[in-house]
Amino acid sequence: MFNPTDERLDELREQIRQSLTPKRAGHILAVEDMAVRLGKLYADDDESERVLRAAALLHDVTKEKKGEEQLALCREHGITLTAEELCAPKTHHARTATEKIRADYPDLADGRVLSAVRYHTTGRADMSIYEKLIFLADYIDDSRTFPDCVRLRSLFWDAEPEKMTQEERNTHLDTVLIIAFDMTISGLVEDGAVIHPDTIAARNYLVSHKNI
Ligand SMILES: [Fe+2]
Ligand SMILES: [Fe+2]
Repeated sequence: MFNPTDERLDELREQIRQSLTPKRAGHILAVEDMAVRLGKLYADDDESERVLRAAALLHDVTKEKKGEEQLALCREHGITLTAEELCAPKTHHARTATEKIRADYPDLADGRVLSAVRYHTTGRADMSIYEKLIFLADYIDDSRTFPDCVRLRSLFWDAEPEKMTQEERNTHLDTVLIIAFDMTISGLVEDGAVIHPDTIAARNYLVSHKNI
């Protein structure tokens, strides 16, 4: 049973406000709100809500560490990066955040929290519901104004998922995630950047399991 108290989560929010820039803290708290909203549709129980809150609050805990600092954190926590991963610096903070949670927040290091944080930038094949919801919440939280994010947020909510059957809603989530991965991959291609193999695997898994 994963059951951090309300006080523990409040303490975490306070820590985030104190230690990160206002912009980053605003994003993190908006991801928490969005993850809880999504959770009501896909994992509507108290424990799941706490898993989503903890994962959202911790997902970018190391994001403000740049370049060399990020690599130093990887070394410190024994994270080995593949050659492809070394060339995908935007994914490093998801790895270092996961290890930081294990080391510094052991009471919150639930497996569901850890995997949602670990895969929040890349996704992966056969994602858990918590991984999907944190990935999407991070993409469409209300603090985001980037056109792709605004478009994806409308695509998700304008379809009124709250009125759908659970089966329709699950399909809707996967459809929106495929669009998110397509947008991510297109952006990386445009930038001539490396695409993390987990992102390809995430997209291929969803596309090949559509309507099965
Ligand atoms: Fe992130
Ligand atoms: Fe984020």
